[in-house]
Amino acid sequence: MKKGIKRIFSEVSFNYELVNHVLTFGLDIYWRRKAAHEAAKAGGSLWLDVCSGTGEMAQNLSRLAGKNVTVVSADFCFPMMSKAIEKISLQQVLFNLAEAKSLPFADRTFDLVTISFATRNINPRKDILLDNLSEFWRVLKPGGRFVNLETSQPSVKIFRRLLHFYVRRAVKPVGFFFTGSKAAYSYLSSTIPRFYPPEEFSLILSQTGFKRVYFRPLLFGVSAIHTAIK
Ligand SMILES: C[S@@+](CC[C@H](N)C(=O)[O-])C[C@H]1O[C@@H](n2cnc3c(N)ncnc32)[C@H](O)[C@@H]1O
Repeated sequence: MKKGIKRIFSEVSFNYELVNHVLTFGLDIYWRRKAAHEAAKAGGSLWLDVCSGTGEMAQNLSRLAGKNVTVVSADFCFPMMSKAIEKISLQQVLFNLAEAKSLPFADRTFDLVTISFATRNINPRKDILLDNLSEFWRVLKPGGRFVNLETSQPSVKIFRRLLHFYVRRAVKPVGFFFTGSKAAYSYLSSTIPRFYPPEEFSLILSQTGFKRVYFRPLLFGVSAIHTAIK
């Protein structure tokens, strides 16, 4: 499936951002900004955005980073990364083609690790998700901050049902219209209703070894920002 995921993102990279903005009515832009502000509290000198895609989160981080902070963007899909390189100066962000589960960085390297709208992709099974989260934990310095922005499950049943209904009806046709790829958006829409409620994802983070885990629901819990400390 890993090869499949890489192919999916290669196929949709040219219009990936546009589809997200249309499907979320632009809210994804605001949510990334909010998560980046939460992340920037990490301070320090080295920040990593994993599964960075077209670099929107890395770009937000680079805007908030002081002169002494280096932002690194890692992803395993070259076409997605190329879109990021087209718009972000190499002086702002360093790019690294890397697999999330085996990052090419030493233990205790980063003050901050972020991931946005990609945790669903590294969650084919809970044990694999835990392996990936442990890898993020490994490269963080003690006291370092982990920030996860992801779609979530609204706690109020009616909102949860509305979200799942919207995802079933809108994601495939809109994704297909802008990218021509049915398979990609069929896969992506299937991962949203399967993802964990925020309390359960908090427990998974604690299980990985993270401390002081907390989350902020966004738009009635349609998405959530989780923050955790190593
Ligand atoms: C839905 S996109 C999210 C991109 C970006 N973070 C954002 O906020 O829009 C998921 C990204 O994760 C990358 N990805 C998925 N699985 C990965 C893995 N195992 N290792 C590295 N990158 C991965 C994909 O290539 C893709 O660029």
